Amino acid sequence: MTPAGIERVLFTQEQVAERVREVGAEITEKFRGRDLKLIGVLKGSVFFLTELARAIDLPLKIDFLAISSFGGSTPANAPGMVRIAKDLDDPIEGEDILLVEDIVDTGFTSRYLLQTLAGRGPRSLAICTLLDRSVRRIVQVPVQFRCFEIPDRFVVGCGLDYKQQYRNLGYIAVMNPERA
Ligand code: IMP
Ligand code: MG
Repeated sequence: MTPAGIERVLFTQEQVAERVREVGAEITEKFRGRDLKLIGVLKGSVFFLTELARAIDLPLKIDFLAISSFGGSTPANAPGMVRIAKDLDDPIEGEDILLVEDIVDTGFTSRYLLQTLAGRGPRSLAICTLLDRSVRRIVQVPVQFRCFEIPDRFVVGCGLDYKQQYRNLGYIAVMNPERA
């Protein structure tokens, strides 16, 4: 049954799986001959990261960090106010790092994380995001790998939440909070 508040499905579970396999293959080619560490941003990227990791055919490590935003309740009115709430378990010095995101929206979160991680001396640092809503970008961040570009609507599913719910939907859907 479709949960309340779901307006329309943007990408089905099959479309997501297919696209994640393609991007996994792209990453495998790009980093061939090297080891890779995926860094997931809790909690939104967890579902995407596990699917992506299985689609990458390279020696792989994973680590996680958690961030918290403050200064406002939505990304739009809290520009740039991000801090690390749970840090990585291990150093990243000399390693090839792929930051795995659920969505790059205004870009503030990704820019902050890129700057922070760059300061720890990785060999390389790139971003892979499930969703890119580049029409809302406020600060520029280089996005090397993306599964889908999406329109300017709030979405849930595949790890993305509304009030911590809907993360477990296998598909990505436009959400109308007024009907939730
Ligand atoms: P940014 O810092 O504006 O790029 O925002 C990134 C974060 O905002 C993401 O990691 C999500 O947690 C959250 N976010 C942005 N747009 C959406 C959305 O449409 N649905 C759910 N969460 C979102
Ligand atoms: Mg969120």
